[in-house]
Amino acid sequence: MEIRFEQAEVRYGEKVALQPLSLLLTENRIGVIGLNGSGKTTFARMINGLVKPTSGKVMVNGKDTTDANGALADIGFIFQSPQNQIILPIVREDIALGLKARGVAKNELDARIDGVLGRFGAQALGDRRAHELSGGELQIAALCSVLATEPALLILDEPTNQLDLKNRQKVASIISNLPENIIVISHDLDLVADFDRVLVFDQGRLAADAPGRDAVNRYRDIALA
Ligand SMILES: Nc1ncnc2c1ncn2[C@@H]1O[C@H](COP(=O)(O)OP(=O)(O)OP(=O)(O)O)[C@@H](O)[C@H]1O
Ligand SMILES: [Mg+2]
Repeated sequence: MEIRFEQAEVRYGEKVALQPLSLLLTENRIGVIGLNGSGKTTFARMINGLVKPTSGKVMVNGKDTTDANGALADIGFIFQSPQNQIILPIVREDIALGLKARGVAKNELDARIDGVLGRFGAQALGDRRAHELSGGELQIAALCSVLATEPALLILDEPTNQLDLKNRQKVASIISNLPENIIVISHDLDLVADFDRVLVFDQGRLAADAPGRDAVNRYRDIALA
């Protein structure tokens, strides 16, 4: 997957959420870190077309995101609050929804759903009510719903932020074993420390672009300055 930002900027009225940014991303695992309000979620939403640049453009595999109607179908996105991710009451139904929207035949649905739940040892979650799940279970259910659609790229916006140590370890290990291309936004610096490339945002500006540990050190300098 090739993601290209060309002088892409996002403004909300007077407020500049992301200063003009030019960047080419081709790595399989990319981390995004920075202080609250520094523009990380805005940046991530531009990649799947949920946020369109106010000026400049964002190209994904040569296609301009502004030409897409809404979000790009082959980019999975796990939102900062997974509570907002699961739409239907029962986890299986929610996973089925995304599959049906992508034209998966009715007689294939059960196998696909069981397959993705099995991948994470989460078969027991299938028949559960989403609103009764704990934060960690919900995070895993959201991952199943998105990964079932076999996205070319998965963007995870703070996937461990509400989790206890045990669930944090579980989700972190799932993430580190995902073969999919991923972009991980996180305040959990250990999660991205071994990534090849980590972007550090500061006040809507790309302040550093470096291998994991170097980027984490740059972020510490910025955050604690
Ligand atoms: N829809 C919006 N309307 C107005 N301002 C917005 C909107 N979305 C984001 N912003 C502003 O843009 C800036 C960047 O927000 P963004 O959500 O990208 O930050 P973030 O780095 O993801 O922060 P956090 O770590 O808290 O999730 C913030 O100042 C925020 O208030
Ligand atoms: Mg955010």
